[in-house]
Amino acid sequence: MINYSNLFLLDPEITFLNFGSFGACPKPIFEKYQEWQLKLEREPVQFIVNEALVELENVRKELGLFLGCCHKDLVMVMNPSYAINTIAKSFSLKEDDEILTTNLEYGACDRTWTYYCEKAKAKYVRQQISLPIQSKDVFLEEFWKGYSDKTRAIFISQITSATGLILPVKEICDEAKKRGLLTIVDGAHVPGHIELNLSELQADIYTGACHKWLMGPKGSSFLYVNKENQHWVDPLLISWGFQSDFPSDSTFIDYHQTAGTRDYAAFLTVTECLKFREKFQWNEVSQNCRKMALENGLRFCELVGSEPLAPLNEDFYGQLFSIPIIVENPQEFQKKLFNDYKIEIPVAVQNGSSYLRYSVQAFNTQNELDYLYDSLVDLKKKGYLLSSGK
Ligand SMILES: Cc1ncc(COP(=O)(O)O)c(C=O)c1O
Repeated sequence: MINYSNLFLLDPEITFLNFGSFGACPKPIFEKYQEWQLKLEREPVQFIVNEALVELENVRKELGLFLGCCHKDLVMVMNPSYAINTIAKSFSLKEDDEILTTNLEYGACDRTWTYYCEKAKAKYVRQQISLPIQSKDVFLEEFWKGYSDKTRAIFISQITSATGLILPVKEICDEAKKRGLLTIVDGAHVPGHIELNLSELQADIYTGACHKWLMGPKGSSFLYVNKENQHWVDPLLISWGFQSDFPSDSTFIDYHQTAGTRDYAAFLTVTECLKFREKFQWNEVSQNCRKMALENGLRFCELVGSEPLAPLNEDFYGQLFSIPIIVENPQEFQKKLFNDYKIEIPVAVQNGSSYLRYSVQAFNTQNELDYLYDSLVDLKKKGYLLSSGK
């Protein structure tokens, strides 16, 4: 039997139910990360100028195989925020153009699109999605109500942040294609969490974090752009890759891969993340986690008098579960859980509602979810957790 807790560096004093925010590196992955950093410091010039670039290509090849896409359509970036900024800044928005999205998106990305839409006098249409979601069909019907003849692109999360839901992104990409719209998918939570095959999904643009469920070091993520759209995507930072002295066969890679001096260690560790998954059969581990996350959801909702945000099945739920709660002060409630109960768990606020979101990773146990449950019973008794009365 593998002791999964021993594989991670997490503080054993804390009940860690927030893998979703920033992931956590298993020891072998973190050691490999440090190995890359040491290698860099032993010969910074050779490493940065030569070795890292060759290794980076290997990373993209391995990651491309994992994601089901060509490695030449994939660049490593710091994080999904960086990727979305790259796209939003380059996208030639004109006055009155519309970007269609949902009201369930991640706040930072919402801000990015709002910024660039305001600048161009375009409209960022946050189509309201009714919660709980009744079914995929109802979701899709509601989503497409936000479409107009001014819509130019779709921006949508495949797994939402505050509400922790899997959205039917494949169906949206298919329909968007029929309507001639560009699709930009925020898959920050997806790689290593649920299956992802970019060739099958056929999104035009996709970003995913490698530092969340793929368990890589912070600052490792990717931006995928299909070949048809690479020509208009400018790098956020213009550097040696523009009018390169040594051009490769991909302008897209040349433009985006060079961004001045930086520590490539987090990117280079991604191959180790993929090896780790193979070695510890993480698909199976992940499947068990999804089961635990889902099986516990209903009793938490019942405890707080709320309803699950979507039908309780794997179409909508992965290793995250967001419980709608009513609390007077969400930040204080989160702090209380950490300070008084030593539970690390986020309370997110979106569209005026609060959500307590637990993550289930390999090291989490049923006992920990039971401990969360008992703590919530206690907080309810003390009047910190109000019942919705449903
Ligand atoms: C849905 C979603 N998109 C984007 C991000 C942004 O990730 P980062 O802060 O690593 O750029 C997150 C982070 O949690 C997220 O949940």
